[in-house]
Amino acid sequence: MSGTHDDVQKYYGKDLTCSDDLKTSACTTPAAAMSKSVKKALSKIHDEVLTKYYGCGLCIPPALEGARVLDLGCGAGRDVYAIAQLVGESGHVIGVDMTEEQLETARKYEDFHRQAFGYEKSNVTFKKGLIEKLGDVGIEDNSIDVIVSNCVINLVPDKESVIKEVARVLKEGGELYFSDVYSDKEISEAARKDYVLWGECISGALLWTDLYDLCEEFELSPPLLVECHPFVVQEELAEKLGSTRFVSATYRIFKPSTSPSNEKVKVTYNGQIPEVETFELAANYQLKKDVAKALPVDVSADLRASRYEKFFVFEKTGCVPSQARPLNPFNKDIQTENAGGCC
Ligand SMILES: C[S@@+](CC[C@H](N)C(=O)[O-])C[C@H]1O[C@@H](n2cnc3c(N)ncnc32)[C@H](O)[C@@H]1O
Repeated sequence: MSGTHDDVQKYYGKDLTCSDDLKTSACTTPAAAMSKSVKKALSKIHDEVLTKYYGCGLCIPPALEGARVLDLGCGAGRDVYAIAQLVGESGHVIGVDMTEEQLETARKYEDFHRQAFGYEKSNVTFKKGLIEKLGDVGIEDNSIDVIVSNCVINLVPDKESVIKEVARVLKEGGELYFSDVYSDKEISEAARKDYVLWGECISGALLWTDLYDLCEEFELSPPLLVECHPFVVQEELAEKLGSTRFVSATYRIFKPSTSPSNEKVKVTYNGQIPEVETFELAANYQLKKDVAKALPVDVSADLRASRYEKFFVFEKTGCVPSQARPLNPFNKDIQTENAGGCC
């Protein structure tokens, strides 16, 4: 297997100097429909931070005011600085990354951003460390409201430890909202050993169904697929990949309450999240303002336990499934148009 920490640090610390150095489109974010506030937040970010962005999706969920957010594999800090504006001065964003060069860029502009946001005190912290060992950088149990991550978990050989750490540090009702790359079948050993394929966020991709298994193992709720984009790997790199297909996908995963509601309910969104007319809980659960929708019991229980609870009315209803069914991100009907991939 490639993808040792040294290889990945070399790739992101030395080989790449900006997004243009990437050899595939795996790590580029489509110009997805961004809210005005996200666009505005991105417009205040320093150019050097923006040019060192290697994410594969937009992993900024709504309703972040006052939240304590953790960015796993924050890189040069684009998402940290965007979210720092959305949580406001009372919120806080912690970015963790293992690559010194990336963190150097992130830290260099901390005061620039504090001033640009008009904050008295910076509300971001960057920590050097491994996302599979968050305890080593002082992240305590049940201390985080929202975890985001943009094209990073594929780069970690020990994905089990990452999900275990997510389950440990999230508060009950907390949310992991992240974009990453997934495959539709097991990836060959030859591809896994390839330095560039791994570094470009391709051959370390998780088989999409394994994400469900990992969540079950660490008692997180089943993943909800928010959006996904297929991407094609250039011919010269594709040989070792055979017929494996890839998508970049954004999932939302809740840490359930220890005493979840088991009521069968329909929920109605009250329209009060700024700029959100329809709350996109998942690709198959679009919650329109003032329109009641019955949800599987586990999904409505998670919504009730989360920070989104105050934006919904929950009313008893009749027959609903007990569990949401997994959506296959390789199903063309739910994919948004081809947009490149990740990183
Ligand atoms: C594809 S880049 C994405 C960076 C950032 N999220 C962005 O959107 O620009 C992957 C980042 O993950 C970091 N990384 C990879 N494996 C890591 C690990 N095990 N622990 C901490 N950081 C890691 C790398 O150093 C690199 O900065």
